[in-house]
Amino acid sequence: MARITHGLTTSHIPAVGATIDHGRTQEPYWKPLFDGYEWTKAWAKQNVPDVIILVYNDHASAFTPELVPTFALGCADEFPPADEGYGPRPVPVVAGRADLAAHMAEGLILDEFDLTLMYKMEVDHGLTVPLSLVYGQPDAWPVTVIPLAVNVVQYPPPTAHRCFMLGQAIRRTVERFDQDLNVHIWGTGGMSHQLQGPRAGFINQTWDHAFMDQLVKDPNGLSQLKHLEFVREAGAEGIELVMWLIMRGALGPEAQELYRFYHVPGSNTAVGHLVLQSVETPA
Ligand code: DHB
Ligand code: FE
Repeated sequence: MARITHGLTTSHIPAVGATIDHGRTQEPYWKPLFDGYEWTKAWAKQNVPDVIILVYNDHASAFTPELVPTFALGCADEFPPADEGYGPRPVPVVAGRADLAAHMAEGLILDEFDLTLMYKMEVDHGLTVPLSLVYGQPDAWPVTVIPLAVNVVQYPPPTAHRCFMLGQAIRRTVERFDQDLNVHIWGTGGMSHQLQGPRAGFINQTWDHAFMDQLVKDPNGLSQLKHLEFVREAGAEGIELVMWLIMRGALGPEAQELYRFYHVPGSNTAVGHLVLQSVETPA
């Protein structure tokens, strides 16, 4: 049986990827941000899962406004980095895990979550920047990855509650897989940020901390948050945080916080990062 043992959340700022790629992480502006990931990098070396289910959003790279899937599951054997305007990032091609992805596609769709299935997909900073933050600059990523792309770019995105329920369904489905696999799930994006309009640059530290507290302890309650509240309290792009609810739903009712980091700002964004461990409820 496969098990989801850990969850991780992190922001996915594109400038962070460029800073890594250009060898500038030790510059005064960036060092405090990257220092905040040192604990996780050491932890991740000791805790290499077989597969990461990486929940992220595409930023008009693989999908255009002509095609907007709410949830798209990466079922391919590999996912190349997307060209976001400056050429593809110099990072390894992401190796998929097609057998588990096919199992998830069947399990989730029969569980009434109608996913779009992707057999060819390029992945942008939403997916590659979190991998770089945790694994640095290897020749090959040390894990296989199943991308799960969520529409948070074009209205209407899925609700926080729908995301939380999808996470719970992912847990059920993964546990029915007949191979012994250690699976981690990552929820990416956020925290508070707004990139456009009169409130561009908006960040809400108090709200972000409360969000992380409640995500760990009361995800059910948090899943009741409405879109308007995300946008009002966390900025227009703060809606990316619904993806953290998918991660949390997949960890089961109780989770232990192993590590937290929060830093303001990274580019235009409040950087939030958590490492969580699933606490199995007694049978
Ligand atoms: C920034 C943050 C994002 O989440 C994104 O997708 C693009 C830019 C930023 O802070 O610059
Ligand atoms: Fe983003």
